[in-house]
Amino acid sequence: MEQATKGRPIVASEAATGLKRRDAFATGLGVLAATLGSAVGLGNIWKFPAMTGQNGGAAFIIIYLLSTILVGLPVMISEHMIGRYARKDAINSLRVVAPKGQPWWLIGAAGGVAAFLIMAFYSEVVGWVFAYIAKSVSGSILSTDPATNGAVFTDLVSSPTQSLLWQWLALVWVGAILIMGVAKGIERATKRLLPLLFVLLIIVAVRSLTLDGAGDGVSFLLKPDFSKVTGAVVLAAMGLAFFKLSVGMGTMITYGSYFREDQDIPMTATRVMLADLTVSLLAGLAIFPAVFAFGFDVQSGPSLLFITIPAVFASMPGGEIFVVIFFVLTAVAATGAMISIVEVPVAFLSEQFRMPRKYALALTLVLLALAGAPAALSQGELADVKIAGKTFFDLYDYASSNILLPVGGMFMCIFVGWVWGFERTKRALTNNGTLNNSAAVNLFFIICKYVTPLLVLVVLLDGLNII
Ligand code: PHE
Repeated sequence: MEQATKGRPIVASEAATGLKRRDAFATGLGVLAATLGSAVGLGNIWKFPAMTGQNGGAAFIIIYLLSTILVGLPVMISEHMIGRYARKDAINSLRVVAPKGQPWWLIGAAGGVAAFLIMAFYSEVVGWVFAYIAKSVSGSILSTDPATNGAVFTDLVSSPTQSLLWQWLALVWVGAILIMGVAKGIERATKRLLPLLFVLLIIVAVRSLTLDGAGDGVSFLLKPDFSKVTGAVVLAAMGLAFFKLSVGMGTMITYGSYFREDQDIPMTATRVMLADLTVSLLAGLAIFPAVFAFGFDVQSGPSLLFITIPAVFASMPGGEIFVVIFFVLTAVAATGAMISIVEVPVAFLSEQFRMPRKYALALTLVLLALAGAPAALSQGELADVKIAGKTFFDLYDYASSNILLPVGGMFMCIFVGWVWGFERTKRALTNNGTLNNSAAVNLFFIICKYVTPLLVLVVLLDGLNII
């Protein structure tokens, strides 16, 4: 590890890393948008509403907000800082910054596993989104009847051929983007399209909020009932915070490795967090008033988005067209996230086993198709096959969001707080004293060193029923 000497540059030298300087993002705005491209995805539009519905509404949202601020944000800042310093992928960045012989790179390796598990079920949900694009183009799926909308979704997910084919299409889609080397281009396109998704969500939210009977949905989102909050619910909310911000598995280390040296990391991470939260809350406002207005079941979980959105569009002029645009934009947001997820195991395989990237990608996709199949079949053929009481789909989700990401994030903060130390952190986050953000950096360091690791530990032990 490099010694801390005053006035040292805030990134490791080329000699130390053995790597040429990476291309950095040309503008600060580019950094913000690219990071958002990874963070904003199905987590906002599909997972946040599903989990909020299943876990009682407002109380869950409050715990999720607190987890985002006290846990997700510090982990994101830590990852960006380490990535920018080392200028490498997650595993090698951790190798560069760790003292000799200490296996901190394991955080990156565990991240590879987490990313793999996430992708194994995420690709299935992206498959559902693709299927809904096709359905909404080819015929009307617009109905406000719970039974009709439920049947459309059940038909899709209980059919093994449809579930598998749509999932494979999602895998081939990311594979093609990465193989053709157009990921950067897609990310740029994503950035232009995300604002459109934002606008469309506002339109849907306005319609949803003005439906007869929308009031109950608003109270569900605003009136907390803490009586149903258990350790498992708190862990689920914290897991969602990790998943949402794409932290705890090294993705943000890789993004940080492209940051410019004058980028204000704490400010950028805070903005990403706020923008990401806004999209999730908007999705909540788009969905819950309608759920109550039309009498859907808030506990529907994974199907919630897919049964509610057609109902909102059914009650809107031009709904036939808007629904197509909605699912296309959702697919666009999900694509940016998928690119950043797949990158982690691909980077891991190619670095660890010195595999050419193309092979690493092909191997990852084949393994994903294999491991993803039981997740794809979880709502149909394999619905009764359970491990630890969970279907494969739920198991992948649980093991990644509720165990691997929190453990990875906890060690990330322990590393920064206890090994990397205050002096280096301060130099890195103030850009060698050129930024006027000492108070924020001091606060970050205290939270990162004490609060985040302790919170994650307690929530994990309690949520997993260990204490
Ligand atoms: N944050 C993404 C979403 O909300 C999912 C994701 C998780 C992406 C982990 C990268 C890493 O959809």
